[in-house]
Amino acid sequence: MTKKIILLGPPGVGKGTVANKLTKKLNLPHIATGDMLRDNTEKKTPLGIKAKSFMDKGLLVPDEVVIEMVRQRLKQDDCKDGFVLDGFPRTINQAEQINNLNFDEVVNLQASDDIIVKRLNNRRVCSKCAFIFHLDYIKPKQEGICDKCNGTLYQREDDKAEAIKERLKVYRSLTEPLISYFKNKGILVDVDGSKTPKEVFESVVSAVS
Ligand code: AP5
Repeated sequence: MTKKIILLGPPGVGKGTVANKLTKKLNLPHIATGDMLRDNTEKKTPLGIKAKSFMDKGLLVPDEVVIEMVRQRLKQDDCKDGFVLDGFPRTINQAEQINNLNFDEVVNLQASDDIIVKRLNNRRVCSKCAFIFHLDYIKPKQEGICDKCNGTLYQREDDKAEAIKERLKVYRSLTEPLISYFKNKGILVDVDGSKTPKEVFESVVSAVS
């Protein structure tokens, strides 16, 4: 049986944290458009060079770039039994472009802006394995070093105050309308993302079971 899941929610609500565990549990690929774009910016590919100027400011990368990138990724063999989409779709137009995929569930993670800002200010990501830490809630054992692979931890450029403000604004105007869009299709499940990582994960697992 295939399983196609979308994780929806504002920046910093915990989509990546949940997706990392959920994809292991369900043995599905984790398709995170933010990670794919960052990988391209690091490698300085033409796509990455184009995307970087939008990402650093907290703006969305143009639809046509992201849609094509996702289309190519979903054609790969590991997606044939399903996948977890994290960070896509982010606009009604993006959702319309994958309308034919018959999603099983859209999990809508929610938390207040105060919580989100605290989470993003203190997020640190491993430069090698992309594991996500938080300096208060999901602490690395050794400062600046990843527990999993000894990689160096870094702060994302778009986790600076100005970019966070812009990302929340963009979310409200372009991504939040997707909540009603998927609700109308009868596949949206709300999950309180403000609880502990363990509680949020358990709620997501029961939402998709
Ligand atoms: P992307 O990387 O997708 O960023 P985002 O959606 O803004 O989401 P984040 O990765 O910031 O947060 P998250 O919800 O995954 O939270 P996390 O688990 O890390 O996109 C970046 C940029 O790429 C966009 O701004 C845009 O420019 C571009 N882009 C991407 N997709 C695009 C698209 N489809 N169209 C156009 N442009 C696109 O958690 C955050 C922190 O909180 C971490 O420190 C974590 O440890 C901590 N935490 C998580 N859960 C909990 C919890 N329950 N309790 C306490 N702390 C927690």
